[in-house]
Amino acid sequence: MNLIYCVLWCCIWFGASADKGSFMKLVGVGKPNSPAMARSMVIETKWFKQKVDHFNPADIRTWKQRYQMNLKYYKHGGPIFLNIGGEEEITHDWMTSGAWIEYAQKCNAMCFQLEHRYFGRSHPTDNLNTSNLMYLTIEQALADLGTFINTISNDNKQFLLNAKWVVFGGSYSGSLAAWLRMKYPQLVHAAVSSSSPLMAKVDYKDYYMAIQNTLLNYNPKCVSSIKEATLTITDLLKTDNGAKYVDEKFSTCNHISITNKKDKTLLFNNLAVPIALIVQYNNDNKYVEKSSLSLVTLCDMMLDKLLGSPLERYAAVHKQLRSVNNQKCTSNTYQHAISALKKTSWNSENVKLGSRQWLYLICTEIGNFITSNNHKHLFGNTIPLDYYTGMCSDVFGKSFNTKALHIAVKKINMFYHDLKKKTSRIIYLHGSIDAWSSLGLIQPQTKDSVSIVIKGGAHCSDLYPSHSSDPPQLTKARKTVAFYLKKWLLE
Ligand SMILES: *[C@@H]1O[C@H](CO)[C@@H](O)[C@H](O)[C@H]1NC(C)=O
Repeated sequence: MNLIYCVLWCCIWFGASADKGSFMKLVGVGKPNSPAMARSMVIETKWFKQKVDHFNPADIRTWKQRYQMNLKYYKHGGPIFLNIGGEEEITHDWMTSGAWIEYAQKCNAMCFQLEHRYFGRSHPTDNLNTSNLMYLTIEQALADLGTFINTISNDNKQFLLNAKWVVFGGSYSGSLAAWLRMKYPQLVHAAVSSSSPLMAKVDYKDYYMAIQNTLLNYNPKCVSSIKEATLTITDLLKTDNGAKYVDEKFSTCNHISITNKKDKTLLFNNLAVPIALIVQYNNDNKYVEKSSLSLVTLCDMMLDKLLGSPLERYAAVHKQLRSVNNQKCTSNTYQHAISALKKTSWNSENVKLGSRQWLYLICTEIGNFITSNNHKHLFGNTIPLDYYTGMCSDVFGKSFNTKALHIAVKKINMFYHDLKKKTSRIIYLHGSIDAWSSLGLIQPQTKDSVSIVIKGGAHCSDLYPSHSSDPPQLTKARKTVAFYLKKWLLE
């Protein structure tokens, strides 16, 4: 899938699996699409020794965490900027372009990027079986970041001892940026946290509601047309002949069995997620993806009577999406998806994509499962919560169930609660059409934190390199970030 994910949770969500059974995340940042020239600059890739378990002194095992460094903009006495890796592999692209690089140029900063444990090439354990995954927690990831900052500063005392660190992130890594400033205020001077969900819920039904509202604001008929298509599919899936018709219209990889509830949910999920991604990442500077649909072209198709009934229009939309994403068919077999997610080797497809690891994080800490369980909604009553919690148990074992998830989510909200009133020098950026924004902090109440809502902004849109066609409110938001960074770096 080439849709660009803001790094973060954005949407996770998982969903749509590609034909290989890989699991698509609704979260994440993707690539900034930098000019080829910029990429040829010298970026050093290095490795940093970390403990497997920061919280058990008796466990002295270590592993190598990947990081990247760019000294091009650094001037003696300047600050250190750290871009936090999220639930995907770190890439050179973000070391040479993106808004944070533009801020680094303005502030003469040294730039680092640290890959998140268990993603990309940062492998704390031999494999990712359930017992090894116990070290994949937010606490451990924050401790990796704290240790990294502390060690780099101390090992280069003569010139970095007083350098101020500023951390950046978007989506899930934006949450890490804010939490890192909260947990390790002595190490982190300031944080820029883009589109970060800071609250965990078990059932994040607001996600598709937000997608629906964005579409409604654009054109209510577009919503009713998608709704009608969803309802028609729901009805068709009541009979075997109807299912055959759906098979054909949506090029399912396997014939849909009308008695298999999970297969049907998976299909609905795989149809809903790409639509949500179009809305989530609408117009956010991912010029690479010109061929992909935007909100406008999606709705144009959904209203085009020449394409046939709403169901046929919806089928045409998905046909186009499959061809953009190089998918031969729409994956609809739950068991295939689960077996693919159960593979524990670093070489397996779902591990390379980060899907297994991300699923583990949301099953054990983050939650925020994107459901649709109301027949009046855009995607109808088609994606229940127990589909997801069942997936947690099926992939990781019986103890990863709904009850455990409720306890975990409560814990996370307790651990990371005090950003609103206590933590200073954080800039929160939100896009007004970002379906994740209702989990973010829109009104920090400390005098030294700032929240910027970018009107019409999508998930993580401020992270990308600035461009002459950017809407003025986006340009203004980036200027505001630069202003506060300069101000805070003098403090
Ligand atoms: C997981 O893998 C480790 C090797 O890294 C092995 O020692 C352990 O027994 C495995 N655990 C399970 C439950 O398979």
